[in-house]
Amino acid sequence: LGIRTNRICCIGAGYVGGPTMATIALKCPHLQVDIVDMNEERISRWNSDDLPIYEPGLGEVVKACRGKNLFFSTDVKKGVEEADIIFASVNTPTKTQGVGKGRAADLRFIESVGRTIAQFANRSKIVIEKSTVPIKTAEAIARVLSANEAASGSRKNFWILSNPEFLAEGTAMADLDQPDRVLIGGQDQDAIGVLVDIYANWVPRERILCTNLWSSELSKLVANAFLAQRVSSINSISRLCERTGADVKEVSRAVGADTRIGPKFLNASVGFGGSCFQKDILNLVYICQQFGLEEEGAYWQQVVDMNDHQKVTFTSKIIQALFNTVTKKKIAVFGFAFKKDTGDVRETPALLVCDMLMKDGAIVHVYDPKVAIEDALQEFKYHDLEVNQSQFIFSTSAEEACDGAHAIVVLTEWDEFKKYDYQKFYSKMMKPAFLFDGRNMLDHAGLEKIGFEVHALGKARVATEHHHQDFVMRAGSRGSAGYS
Ligand code: UDX
Ligand code: UDX
Ligand code: ADP
Repeated sequence: LGIRTNRICCIGAGYVGGPTMATIALKCPHLQVDIVDMNEERISRWNSDDLPIYEPGLGEVVKACRGKNLFFSTDVKKGVEEADIIFASVNTPTKTQGVGKGRAADLRFIESVGRTIAQFANRSKIVIEKSTVPIKTAEAIARVLSANEAASGSRKNFWILSNPEFLAEGTAMADLDQPDRVLIGGQDQDAIGVLVDIYANWVPRERILCTNLWSSELSKLVANAFLAQRVSSINSISRLCERTGADVKEVSRAVGADTRIGPKFLNASVGFGGSCFQKDILNLVYICQQFGLEEEGAYWQQVVDMNDHQKVTFTSKIIQALFNTVTKKKIAVFGFAFKKDTGDVRETPALLVCDMLMKDGAIVHVYDPKVAIEDALQEFKYHDLEVNQSQFIFSTSAEEACDGAHAIVVLTEWDEFKKYDYQKFYSKMMKPAFLFDGRNMLDHAGLEKIGFEVHALGKARVATEHHHQDFVMRAGSRGSAGYS
């Protein structure tokens, strides 16, 4: 191809770009990796001990490579000029206005990357989309690049590759270290080969899948849609379990033992969150509709609708159990992040749960080991949700959140929540003391023994069950008496 392959530049120093490039730097000491971002504050934090994102194991890798072959900078121009392999790892949120509002991906950041590269590229380059993008985005980038190239009259080549990232937050470093697969889509085999050789430094070649651009782009959306669909599927069953006396954990175990189905991603929860699932499905739905595939779009839309329904029913259950009102009641919320081991609150189910509780008048006291209150407030704002700050309080400890509370609501599955002294919490709470486990992670029998009224997901309450049986028995005996 006639390009230099010893330097890599990544535009976008976020949840994807940061960990991915840090891993490449660690595994490929012979390469220089430059990460550039227009956000000055973010870059200065990447250059400090206080990294802008929390990810287990990330700090160590950054420390080992930073200043050696890993550099963080706001100089996008220089990054683009000096590297011939450029990753685009910018955010692609859902559009908040205009055509496709609330569904289509907002591609202005990725487009701006295309324009930036067109502006500063001095030689031929490989441009790799890392961000999740709707199918055919590569074509749009290619057009921006070639139109600008033609206008400038210079002769440069741009090879566009799609290389979607499958890492999950909280386990990003392990996922990057040992990926199930690396996916590379493109038209030019030589350009694909350059990227394959980079990953082959630590990923077995049989796990590096090469395909065409569109299959690669679509696979990322579909993988996320399938994962989210499993969560919505098991969540829909959790409610059926509550009605019938089945236990959703037992159902998951039995269903997941089928090797065709597999045991992962079958945990019923208060709902899925995160920056990807909802966004990617809405995007998939929008693309289906664009091609006139109404039924197909409706099928996937149901996964998001079920997720919204799950959050609402979970919260309604809380309000109902607390004698139909939470007005002026203190509620301890354990966890605000969308999953454990991350401080990320994008699309977290906690948003809607807290909003509903506050709308009913509750004073919500949140404890999360990693989330910053500013980020939580920002996320409310992003969703146009009003927060009265006297109703939304961040506690510095779980104990403080429980003091005088009517209920504990578990929204994130942080490991430390399992280790607490719930006897101590119980003694400080109002009675009856309720506990709603939105992650089905605590020892419910033990909590009941302490005195909590525990509401698990996908399992009828033991007390209710007794009551129910009692009722059936009495009804039965009355019936038989009538016949004799
Ligand atoms: C199914 C279940 O697999 C089995 O566990 C249960 O006990 C009975 O129901 P069966 O209906 O015999 O078994 O066959 P299966 O292999 O599951 O296929 C069912 C249908 O799905 C077939 O028409 C098959 O062609 C179709 N199928 C299966 C697909 O179209 N695509 C696939 O990837 C898999
Ligand atoms: C996801 C994909 O897993 C990853 O491959 C892709 O690159 C980005 O999107 P992420 O959103 O970081 O990763 O986390 P993930 O572990 O997938 O969890 C997403 C949400 O689903 C979380 O809110 C999680 O709590 C929830 N979830 C997951 C469940 O409720 N139940 C489960 O069984 C699994
Ligand atoms: P993701 O989860 O996909 O990594 P983030 O929002 O965490 O998304 O990170 C994306 C980063 O990309 C942000 O830090 C943002 O400032 C940066 N970014 C977006 N557009 C550009 C651009 N044109 N040039 C440089 N950086 C950009």
